[in-house]
Amino acid sequence: MQIKTITEQEIQQYRAETRGTAERIHFNNAGSALPPDVVVETVVNYLNEEAVFGGYETEFKYSAELDNIYPLIARLINANDDEIALVENASTAWGIAFNGISFKKGDVIITSEMEYVTNLISFLNVQQSQGVELKVIANDEQGNFPLHELEAAISPQTKLIAVTHIPSTAGGMIPIVEIGKIARRHNILYLVDACQSAGQIPVDVREIDCDMLSVTGRKYLRAPRGTGFLYVRKAVQDKLKLFFMDGFSAPSVSMEAYRPRDDARRFELYEKNRALTLGLGKAVEYALDIGVDRIWQRIQYLADLLRSQLQNIDGITVHDIGDQKCGIVTFSVKGIDSAAVKNKLGEKHINVSVGKAISTRIYMDKNHLSSIVRASVHYYNTEEELQQLCTELAAL
Ligand SMILES: Cc1ncc(COP(=O)(O)O)c(C=O)c1O
Repeated sequence: MQIKTITEQEIQQYRAETRGTAERIHFNNAGSALPPDVVVETVVNYLNEEAVFGGYETEFKYSAELDNIYPLIARLINANDDEIALVENASTAWGIAFNGISFKKGDVIITSEMEYVTNLISFLNVQQSQGVELKVIANDEQGNFPLHELEAAISPQTKLIAVTHIPSTAGGMIPIVEIGKIARRHNILYLVDACQSAGQIPVDVREIDCDMLSVTGRKYLRAPRGTGFLYVRKAVQDKLKLFFMDGFSAPSVSMEAYRPRDDARRFELYEKNRALTLGLGKAVEYALDIGVDRIWQRIQYLADLLRSQLQNIDGITVHDIGDQKCGIVTFSVKGIDSAAVKNKLGEKHINVSVGKAISTRIYMDKNHLSSIVRASVHYYNTEEELQQLCTELAAL
């Protein structure tokens, strides 16, 4: 189906609805995007009501809106409402899923070179504590994930395939749909880190065919910091260990037994920040109203344009490789440290970030990168902003 391109008029409207766009040129959307004003107002208004009417009383008043977050997120990723758990960030979401798996000595985890640091640490933890083996499938020379090598690496010991869709410090992407097909064919648990993906590119858990998927709110979804969610396929929920519970996650308790809820909210605890939860819901609604396919089309356009403009500037090396690229544009400036580039751009009211080697350890070490400059574009950025970034970089 033909995607209806976001018009110039719509861009101006989205910018008018985002007060931060008037203050700065924000290319740190992979760190934390500028939230729409309506998201901020939702959070602030809710906190004010709590202060005046009481926390539980305000929760009661907004119970329908708070419950509605689950169907909204379910729509965003094509899941069912009972497959979503709200958590504080992507690392918690991913950790609940990963640490819920019962590993034994000799089990094998397969991952890619793009895996995020949180996840890598957890792999090393079960490697050291439980004798689980880790296999890393490296990208080929062109920066593409070799699916045939994944297929060849699978053995009866393979317990889990875990990949990060969009890495923290590179513009390439991992083919999660194709990997999902392989995981399903071999009946292997499949965990996807979609932290940078949600709100940037359409994410469809049925198409990906993953068992678990983790997301944060503050990045491309434009939600407040301290929000995130976990998707767990219904059929897999009973297979994951629960390592903490309260009366919300296990509402049936007697002195003989307790029973967890029969939905993904068993992975949550009762107490959470309701103001932020509502803010997350607003942000999801905002993205759905625009259409994530339209957002993705614009992000690709801006990122491609930025890469080609950067390539024309003397002394700049763009590092992104691979056939499929996203809104994260990574580069370095000859003779100038990434942090210094970021600081100099900051003086001109341009936000970029520094991608550290630790964040994507395997990929960065393989490419001998200790850090990179990361300019991550969102749909509300403009061509004029790209031009301004390039002008400042050329002046460096
Ligand atoms: C690819 C990826 N996965 C996971 C995370 C962790 O997200 P959070 O900080 O919300 O735990 C990040 C954060 O930058 C990330 O880039």
